[in-house]
Amino acid sequence: MVVNPVCPLLNALRKAWDASTFVKLTLSSPEELEPGLRNIKARPVALKDGRRICLTQCFATREITLNLLPEDGIRTLADSFAHSWTRANLFTTAGDFQFRRESSGKVSVRAARPAFTAAPALEHDRRNPLRKALADEPFLQRLGVTTLQGAPRPGMSGKLRQVQRFVEILGHLLADWTTKPQRTLRIADMGAGKGYLTFALAHALRLRGLDAEVTGVEARPELVQEANRAAEELGFAQLRFVAGTIGAWDAPAELDVLVALHACNTATDDALFLGLEKGAELLLTSPCCHQELRPQLHFPPALAAVSGHGILAERQAEILTDALRAHLLELRGYSARVFEFVEPEHSGKNLMLAGVRRTAGGRPKEAIREEIRSLWAAFGLKSQQLAKLLGEVPV
Ligand SMILES: C[S@@+](CC[C@H](N)C(=O)[O-])C[C@H]1O[C@@H](n2cnc3c(N)ncnc32)[C@H](O)[C@@H]1O
Repeated sequence: MVVNPVCPLLNALRKAWDASTFVKLTLSSPEELEPGLRNIKARPVALKDGRRICLTQCFATREITLNLLPEDGIRTLADSFAHSWTRANLFTTAGDFQFRRESSGKVSVRAARPAFTAAPALEHDRRNPLRKALADEPFLQRLGVTTLQGAPRPGMSGKLRQVQRFVEILGHLLADWTTKPQRTLRIADMGAGKGYLTFALAHALRLRGLDAEVTGVEARPELVQEANRAAEELGFAQLRFVAGTIGAWDAPAELDVLVALHACNTATDDALFLGLEKGAELLLTSPCCHQELRPQLHFPPALAAVSGHGILAERQAEILTDALRAHLLELRGYSARVFEFVEPEHSGKNLMLAGVRRTAGGRPKEAIREEIRSLWAAFGLKSQQLAKLLGEVPV
């Protein structure tokens, strides 16, 4: 494919950044050699003030590193490619792309399967002190996730990894949220289960000095009772668990953050709907047990090869469900991102669908509706819970 020089890289970088799929970029093969400059590398980093693009100029004997605001970083890299470099290799968890700029100025793009399948951890590595400190937290020991030495208990390393990644992701989103109201934040976790991630949520907010009331809603009363006991023993005064279902919960008039991790099947839709109705700034879900669309799917002829394999048809139903949910969030004025929450080896339920309320911009609603309509028609869908709750069922 041959295309105009600046846009493809600019667009691909922006898209990867927005979707939190950006892993790294290298600009190489300079057009005119600046003495000693070999290449430019870029990757995302999490700093105290929010996420930045870390740009490193690699000379033969030294490196110069700059941390730029996302938009500045993206533009700098795209401009630099357009004027000084002939090759750019972009790695994202959605796919890898090689851009080549010819002397005529034309750019060719080659796509390949992603070499990295998990969203990059923005802190340094497994020995990261923040992760270690979290593993040592008494709440994780009390809930049976870690030992007194901060090591995962047997069978709990996946849960520990989820808690660590969740706290990191939440930290970035909270840092990027510059218009927090000057009052106690209201935060809800739907389908809280044993409360591992609800405690982690309350802990992350406390760590940032944020005043917040956190409520975990859970259908199983025995789990609620045990989680409230743990909250009391551990001194989590602003955390409580209530027994009941998402739809029946007597929610406050407004919610600031809505979380629903591994809420089964359409419970994720009920939770998203509640968050939308209550005007939540952040919606964080990790959908699982997608059962609603699978029996409805009529595969278009081009996908006959998929429909013949049960597991592939199931995956197709999951993809469709989450794509529809993401579009419905976009339609309601949110920027929606779908990314891998933890590495697949830690949990098969590893997608996160996050929504951040937009203050401005966004695509025209009719364009979003049209895309929903085409998906709906292509697979002969009849009903999807979030679409139904929002009154957005295509006709
Ligand atoms: C797989 S667990 C996830 C627990 C926790 N969020 C986590 O990720 O560790 C799902 C939980 O959601 C609860 N649940 C399912 N549907 C619900 C609903 N409609 N209302 C409230 N809780 C629900 C289940 O009882 C279960 O404890």
